[in-house]
Amino acid sequence: MQNNLRVVTLDGPAGVGKTTLAKRVAQELSIAYLDTGAMFRIFGWKFGEAAPTMTEEELEAHIAQYTFSLSGFGFDSVLSVNGTPVGDEIRTEEVAALASSVAKLPVVRTALKRVQREISTNTSLVAEGRDMGTVVFPSAKYKFFLDATAEERGARRFKQLQELGQPADLELIISQIKERDKQDRTRTIAPLIPAEDAHIIDTTELDIDGVFTAIMQFFAD
Ligand code: DC
Repeated sequence: MQNNLRVVTLDGPAGVGKTTLAKRVAQELSIAYLDTGAMFRIFGWKFGEAAPTMTEEELEAHIAQYTFSLSGFGFDSVLSVNGTPVGDEIRTEEVAALASSVAKLPVVRTALKRVQREISTNTSLVAEGRDMGTVVFPSAKYKFFLDATAEERGARRFKQLQELGQPADLELIISQIKERDKQDRTRTIAPLIPAEDAHIIDTTELDIDGVFTAIMQFFAD
């Protein structure tokens, strides 16, 4: 199986557990994990506020300043931008919202699609995102789409924040998730939808181990 394995795609909405699963699957398969959301977050963080008023040329000039690279595999995969590993500064709700808004821009999507494909030319990987199976890697052999209700995803996020000792408001979290879902699912370019040939896994009633087992069944032979 490992011989012809190149790209595994893992798509789904915010808060469905994609990151945990994608890293674990990458670890199990001894291949790299690519967090494509982090790429949109970097752009959202760096120039997201100004992006809506920029011309295509201005956007392209901003995008050209950033080079992404991927090293390591599984849990130890490291995504770097301009040689520096991406850190926790992009893991805020504010940056997530900016990422979601730059993700609507065709220039941004085209640029990142090119980068993502380039990275995959010399690295087998699990690509986590929204359009990995539909747009970026349509011919990937293994495609997964994870889903769960917004309420369930909100409750998971709430629990995570509580465990981290951070302030959390369940209703607010659920409404932010719904807002981001709406943006991601209804945008005209590369909307969040499962690829026709993706394995769809509803995780609402499953824990991480259950989802992991469901995914790995497809690699059994
Ligand atoms: O997975 P994430 O929460 O880190 O993603 C941040 C935002 O980036 C999300 O709102 C949608 C966008 N995104 C996208 O449009 N396409 C991807 N392949 C990955 C993320």
